[in-house]
Parts: sequence; C-alpha cells; structure tokens
Amino acid sequence: MSKPRVFVTRIIPDRGLRKVLEQTDATVWEDELPPPRSVLLEWASQADGLLTLLTDKIDAELMDAAPKLKVVANFAVGFDNFDVPAATQRGILMTNTPGVLTDTTADLAFALLMACARRIVEGRDYARNGHWRTWGPMLLMGQDIHGATLGIAGIGRIGLAMARRAVGFGMRILYHDAMRSEVAENELGAIRVNKEELLAQSDFVSLHVPLTPETRHYIDAAALKMMKPNAILINTARGPVVDTMALYEALKARQIFAAGLDVTDPEPLPADHPLYTLDNALIVPHIASASFETRSKMAEMAADNLLAGLAGKLPPNCLNPEAFNK
Ligand code: DGY
Repeated sequence: MSKPRVFVTRIIPDRGLRKVLEQTDATVWEDELPPPRSVLLEWASQADGLLTLLTDKIDAELMDAAPKLKVVANFAVGFDNFDVPAATQRGILMTNTPGVLTDTTADLAFALLMACARRIVEGRDYARNGHWRTWGPMLLMGQDIHGATLGIAGIGRIGLAMARRAVGFGMRILYHDAMRSEVAENELGAIRVNKEELLAQSDFVSLHVPLTPETRHYIDAAALKMMKPNAILINTARGPVVDTMALYEALKARQIFAAGLDVTDPEPLPADHPLYTLDNALIVPHIASASFETRSKMAEMAADNLLAGLAGKLPPNCLNPEAFNK
C-alpha cells in the first residue's frame, strides 16, 4: 500500500521529522522562510496531511484546493493561523501542541519581565560600548520585582505557569479572565479583577490570551493610559493583542516604563521599525518555546497527531473532534 502524501512546511526537530519521514511519503520545505502561498496551495492539492507552522495560513481556500486532505498538524499551541470551523465543515482534522511548551514559554515571559525591570540589555550594551567608567549611584536604575504586583491577562496554562513563578518572587498576583481559576486563587493566592483594575494596579502586566477578534488590541492607547508609569508590559501571546503604534507612543513618552515583546504586529517586525529605536522596548523574535527539549517535544507531538489522523484515528490533540465522524 502506498504511503500517505505529506507536506511539512519547514524543517522541524529530528525527533518528530524522523517519524514523519519514516511513515509517510513526505516533502519537506527546507527554506528558512515559509513556503509562498502558491507553493503551499500546490503541495496541499496533493497532500493527505500537512505539518504546518504558525506562519502558514490554513483557510477555506486552501482546504478547497486540497481534495485528499485529512489532517493538518500545527507545530504550535496557538492556532490562529487555522480556520477550524471551515475544517470541521469539510471533515478535516486540525491539531496543535498544547502543554509541552507551557513552562518554557512562561520561563521566557519571566525572563523578559526580569530583563526589562532590571535593564539587563541596556546594561550589557553600556558595558560593551565602553561607557562603564565607574560605579554609578544613579546608573541604570530599574524596578523591583520582589513584592511588586503582577497582572496576568488570561489565566490558562501559560498564565498559571507565570503566576507560579511570581509566587517565588513574593509578588502579589492579580488576574483577569472570563473564567475563574480556583487553582490560581486557592493555591497561588491570585485575585481575580476586571481589566481596568488589572491595568491600574499592576507593576507588570503579562499577556497570555489567545488571539481572537475580542482580544485584538486588548492593549490599545486607552489601556496603556490606565497603566502605572512604572509598569512593564510583557507579551508572549500574539502580536496583534497589542496595538503596536500605541505602545510605541506610550514607551517613547515614558508613559509606561518598558515593554518586553516576544511577539509583534507585524511579525516579523521590520528592521527599520521605530520600536527598535527605544531603549525601553526589548524585542526578541518569537522564541518563547525555543528550548531544545521543548521544540523536540513539539515536533514529536505534531508528528504523532499527523500520523494518527492519517491512520484514521482521532489525534491526541485534536482541535475539532466533531470533524472525526464526518
Ligand atoms: C505557539 O506554540 O503558539 C508559540 O507561539 C510558538 O511556540
């Protein structure tokens, strides 16, 4: 029996890629940049399965061009690149990689928080660029982390992991979420507040909401105005959750202290973007899940989801199990 046809839209860690290559007739897009839309459509038209990244838009147009497509496995927990209802209508299974990247992502969010608060990158540049001439009583003063208030927007898996880290630093924890989290409240002492209270009371605001029409520009000019002048904004969720130009204006005017961004809008942020000119904007290129071990686990998980779907089984991390019986 011939093996299923698969298109893998980028080289992923070997632990997952090997499984896909062994068990399917796979083509791997080897470029550093994502396949152009026309290439993705062309390969999808022949594919039984796709292993995709968050940079690949999997929408109704693509699905209609892919008559054999059974399963699309995202190498990410976020799936705002997927049109899940369109896939369900067509009986195509969609999967993601939840859980394995929770702590790694929270580690990076906390690293950004600390780096912004204590001005680590500015200090590195100061020393490296030959400005360090003596011990300075006023030099590169930042914000205390211990004892400060952390406001978490979105208390899902990653928001909760962020709260756990904050406990170790003796922080007061506030959260805003449509759902109450008993774990956050009972185990971590977090207090549920509305969005306005979160913004007004927090010294650090960390975003952990998925990107939906409701959360687009969750942080806009009005939200930034509600934040404290010493506040630091951390975004490891999705770029469009923050209005980039409003953030630029707020940082430039020192209306808030700093921002640490793993994700941006647009993404990638062009090299000539004004946000890069600000010392109080710390931007890294969407690397929150990028530890060797976590990326390997994500690859394995995406491969297992893909192979299960191709074998006619319900994938372990199926986003639309209702498509299974179609
Ligand atoms: C995700 O998985 O959604 C992250 O943004 C990348 O790991």
